[in-house]
Amino acid sequence: MKLIYNIGVLAGIQPEGVLRVEGAEQGKTGTLENAWLAVDDEGRIADFGTGSVMPDSDWASLDAHGGMLIPGFCDSHTHVVYAGSRDGEFLDKINGLSYEEIAARGGGILNSADLLQATPEDELYRQSMVRVQEMMDKGTVALEIKSGYGLCPEAEMKMLRVIKRIKETVPATVKSTFLGAHAVGRGYTHESYVQAVIDMIPQAAEYADFVDVFCDEGFFTVEDTDRILSAAEHLLTPKIHANELAVSGGVQVGVKHQALSVDHLERTTDAEIEALKGTWTMPTMLPGSSFFLGLPYGRAKDYIKAGLGVALASDYNPGSSPCGDMRFVMAQGCIKMRLTPVEAFNAVTLNSAYAMGVSTEYGSITRGKRAALILTHPGWDLTKLAYQYQTPYIREVLF
Ligand code: NIG
Ligand code: FE
Repeated sequence: MKLIYNIGVLAGIQPEGVLRVEGAEQGKTGTLENAWLAVDDEGRIADFGTGSVMPDSDWASLDAHGGMLIPGFCDSHTHVVYAGSRDGEFLDKINGLSYEEIAARGGGILNSADLLQATPEDELYRQSMVRVQEMMDKGTVALEIKSGYGLCPEAEMKMLRVIKRIKETVPATVKSTFLGAHAVGRGYTHESYVQAVIDMIPQAAEYADFVDVFCDEGFFTVEDTDRILSAAEHLLTPKIHANELAVSGGVQVGVKHQALSVDHLERTTDAEIEALKGTWTMPTMLPGSSFFLGLPYGRAKDYIKAGLGVALASDYNPGSSPCGDMRFVMAQGCIKMRLTPVEAFNAVTLNSAYAMGVSTEYGSITRGKRAALILTHPGWDLTKLAYQYQTPYIREVLF
């Protein structure tokens, strides 16, 4: 048993069995001041409470020195396995080209696929691990990673093997998503590539937890998505890229296939909000890509007003969000989407854990959950975390 004592603020407390928070509940979190928390030998939260408890002599102990203790961040949408960089396109973007224009010139996702296909598996693992380590250092304790820069059977499987290897190496929990349908691979027609993705599903299902499709204008249609998700039924749960570039119908086809999440949602109408009501699908927004690409921010507040929950994730990738800092994502939720600090905090912890199927284990201070926690320096609270969004605050990330 290990005791963490002298905790200034213990935030993110949720009762057992709460796997996501929706509507008004998203704006609430349990908080204790002057608290302690005990961790059992399996690394789970055994108990917590208030008061100046001193550790038993046989217990390991950690003096929090009045710092805040919160659940670590959960990042339910990333593309951190990629090769090289797209800094050349960064300059194109600065010079005025849009994401779609860069893609139409053969850049974008296809550029990353060329680089990835030419990169040996060990080197891909090494490059990707640098980013995963950076994310863990910044407080991420659970993350999802997608394939989708292979775009042919051999390279998609190479990506899934690298994700598996990361899963086996890092203390964070990693979930794996097969995103063969990220763009049409070179040398294929649109139709032949959709068929190739369908043919890859059985093998991908040996590695991946989820299946994703970039259901958006210029990429894959609702019909393509429907075919791919039908082929993956009973093998892989869907998580869908929807409504980034256009009102694509991706939300509705995701809901039809009981997607665990529909992600992006920069462009949505009231019909998408209606379609999500009463479903188990978590709307997930990625403010980092709105920031980087200059897209509208998702209507998170309207979703919450409609009684839904919202998750926020980083979308860490080389083309639309080269940043995996979930504290910055939380701050953008407040600054750009007008979420309260608690709404944004629940979006980057419990709801994002739900959006990758790990909220029984992560995302809140709850007895029995993993003690995967962020301990801050003294003087921090949830509001200051988002408000003073660049000041270093982490003393230690505990796994
Ligand atoms: O989520 N929108 C599609 N996929 C990624 C971007 C991929 C890339 O440009 O490399 C995203 O934004
Ligand atoms: Fe993405």
